[in-house]
Amino acid sequence: MAFISIGMNNSRKSIILGVTGSIAAYKAVDLLRLLTSAGHDVRVLQTEASLRFVGELTFQALSGHPVVIDQFDPRSESVFSHIDLASADIMLVAPATAGTIGKMAAGLADNLLLSSYLATKAKVMICPAMNQQMWNHPAVRENIDTLKRRGALIIEPGSGELACGDEGVGRMAEPREIFERVRQHLADVPTSKADVHGDINRSGSLAGVRVLVTAGGTREPIDSVRYITNRSSGRMGMELAEAALDRGARVTIVAANCSTTRIPGITQIDVETAEELETAVESEYESCDVLLMAAAVSDYKVSDIMTMGKIEREESVSNLKLVPTSDIVANLKNNGNGRVRIGFAAEHGEENRERARRKLLDKGLDMIVFNDISRADIGFESSDNEITIMAPGRDDIFVEKTTKRECAERIMDQVETLIA
Ligand SMILES: Cc1cc2nc3c(=O)[nH]c(=O)nc-3n(C[C@H](O)[C@H](O)[C@H](O)COP(=O)(O)O)c2cc1C
Repeated sequence: MAFISIGMNNSRKSIILGVTGSIAAYKAVDLLRLLTSAGHDVRVLQTEASLRFVGELTFQALSGHPVVIDQFDPRSESVFSHIDLASADIMLVAPATAGTIGKMAAGLADNLLLSSYLATKAKVMICPAMNQQMWNHPAVRENIDTLKRRGALIIEPGSGELACGDEGVGRMAEPREIFERVRQHLADVPTSKADVHGDINRSGSLAGVRVLVTAGGTREPIDSVRYITNRSSGRMGMELAEAALDRGARVTIVAANCSTTRIPGITQIDVETAEELETAVESEYESCDVLLMAAAVSDYKVSDIMTMGKIEREESVSNLKLVPTSDIVANLKNNGNGRVRIGFAAEHGEENRERARRKLLDKGLDMIVFNDISRADIGFESSDNEITIMAPGRDDIFVEKTTKRECAERIMDQVETLIA
């Protein structure tokens, strides 16, 4: 990763970090280091269950303060006096288990973390961590809504592989993303998607360049449980986004059903359908310098979606009526207008290479990246790719089979020449 220096608010702030009994407790150690390195005074509160994951000595050594667990411990009064609680700027609960979230919502106070939550006037930020069944359980959803209504900021968990081996939403947000949200709150920076990068000072060959990437594959609903989709995982788009970030760019990614982990430092807008992807791209396009359309966007959608319920077998649907989706790049207002626009053409078989070139010219793109999806060893569901980079008036650049990250680097090399 390229070096990213984060401009922190100079004044030392007082932060209470609550750590609960989740497998993600180890990430709280990194978070504590980020906060203390930025000069903040952090006091850690651990639940009994969290001690099974990370011992208090680790937090004590890194925060420079004793860690009190038992609220009947006589030291709790001096370590967490009412003054500390009243004057703390932020109370951060990371990770927050389903159990602690439930108790906070219910107003229970059977440990020091929970009593402190009820007593503090600090801004409360909660970083849930649990498996996706727990996260989607109506009880947890209601508890989260209750805490939001009472003013807590929920730093949503990301999706990806969970500790239990399942895939889904529930992984605690990455420490750097949490740190960034804390920084925004302290600097009173708006948390809108466009402002997430705030005053991060970046260096690198793409410093100051705003890059918009689309990734993943859209889903077009048939009824409320079924959809038409494709095999794109979003990996290529994520590699492009990270390569641009590492070169110093400010990056936004429009992610269509990506199974990849969120990248700290990148603004991610999650979408599902081609229409949602188009709306997100339209709203971000005006403020970007480079657009990389790596998402596999469905060419068709179902014309009569059954939005409530499921088409039953007896209804014998013999034909699904499909209608074309929009051509997103062609429809962009202020098309081009100084921006570098890069398309991706996943074509079946080498013989379709010329189809990619036609798309490049017909859509007036600055560059197109062709890959052959007929091969099982590259492209969809593979960590490798083999690509040809085409640009009008230039020789094709062939990148022999290599990792998607390496392909992303070669594409970003060409982005740099186009910008220059
Ligand atoms: C290995 C292991 C991992 C766990 N991870 C989580 C988790 O990520 N999220 C969660 O809500 N509960 C998790 N639990 C269950 C909690 O530890 C348990 O509900 C505990 O009572 C939470 O207490 P606390 O909220 O007071 O820390 C895990 C339990 C075990 C044994």
